[in-house]
Amino acid sequence: MYGNDFSAPEDAPGGGLLGEVAAAEAALRAAATRQRGGGPGPDADLEAYFADVIDADQKIEPRDWMPEAYRKTLIRQIAQHAHSEIIGMQPEGNWISRAPSLKRKAILLAKVQDEAGHGLYLYAAAETLGVSRDELVQLLLDGRQKYSSIFNYPTLSWADVGVIGWLVDGAAIVNQVPLCRCSYGPYARAMIRVCKEESFHQRQGYEILHTLAHGTLEQKAMAQDAVDRWWYPSLAMFGPPDGDSTHSARSMAWKIKRFSNDELRQRFVDMCVQQAEILGLTLPDPDLRWNEQCQAYDFTEPDYAELMRVISGEGPCNRQRMEHRRRAHAEGAWVRVAAAAYAAKRSTAREAVAA
Ligand SMILES: [Fe+2]
Ligand SMILES: [Fe+2]
Repeated sequence: MYGNDFSAPEDAPGGGLLGEVAAAEAALRAAATRQRGGGPGPDADLEAYFADVIDADQKIEPRDWMPEAYRKTLIRQIAQHAHSEIIGMQPEGNWISRAPSLKRKAILLAKVQDEAGHGLYLYAAAETLGVSRDELVQLLLDGRQKYSSIFNYPTLSWADVGVIGWLVDGAAIVNQVPLCRCSYGPYARAMIRVCKEESFHQRQGYEILHTLAHGTLEQKAMAQDAVDRWWYPSLAMFGPPDGDSTHSARSMAWKIKRFSNDELRQRFVDMCVQQAEILGLTLPDPDLRWNEQCQAYDFTEPDYAELMRVISGEGPCNRQRMEHRRRAHAEGAWVRVAAAAYAAKRSTAREAVAA
């Protein structure tokens, strides 16, 4: 389907991520059919039962008892993830009207639309935890919940669209494939679908870059410039180093998180090095080299102080992204009102038929 003129991301060493998604999907199905002894008895220790379910690698479902901190952690994480999908539509949406061909425009439109869909799956997953989508959207608009800091960087050239697909969606996949095995059922199920689509996003970005890198000298220089600007912000997507990561240990114990930030970052670097070689582009790190002893690449860490500045609102595009989101939310108010009125009308009509 994509041609065989280059080795595609998941064929490269360190790839095979789609295979992991398929395995996680099979495990989810198995968990759904497995017996859990019919649930806790009336006098059961709910906390012990919750721990047993997690230990047995089964799924916590919305009606199950769960510790309040587990519920809150999931709401925060899933909401932040949903907000990132929606805000993430902006940097690429910026290029829809300037895509270099009809084919590229159609692909980019579909990709940006996929991101809206991801936001919807995730808001729906968060709603199963007893919070409404309206509340979460309001928290984003008020600046009380965050989205991924990567979307506060500008897209300066068409090559940035390719790099976002390759590196940003690539980092998202490395982060998200383990979430397909998350202990909370609705989140795990949403992630399976998201990861399958993200894999397509990564391929389309890679293919844009491959075309540019094998085009004119100017096109290759444009691709290299985009890689130079996005490499370190992409590495920062995995969050602060393990020593500074506040929520990690508990999330790992609850099997929400399966690998540490640094483990995932290393996996991403190892995957990208070979992919960059196939592209004929250079990753902007003079200290990047194979470490025979670790069987992994040594690399320069991103600037975590910059990450913290961007998270706290001082990135190049924070203000612009939020202004745009607030405007879109206000301008879309009539659609929400119309949809709610239509839903109310339909349910009245159904009740009338049932009566
Ligand atoms: Fe997405
Ligand atoms: Fe994506």
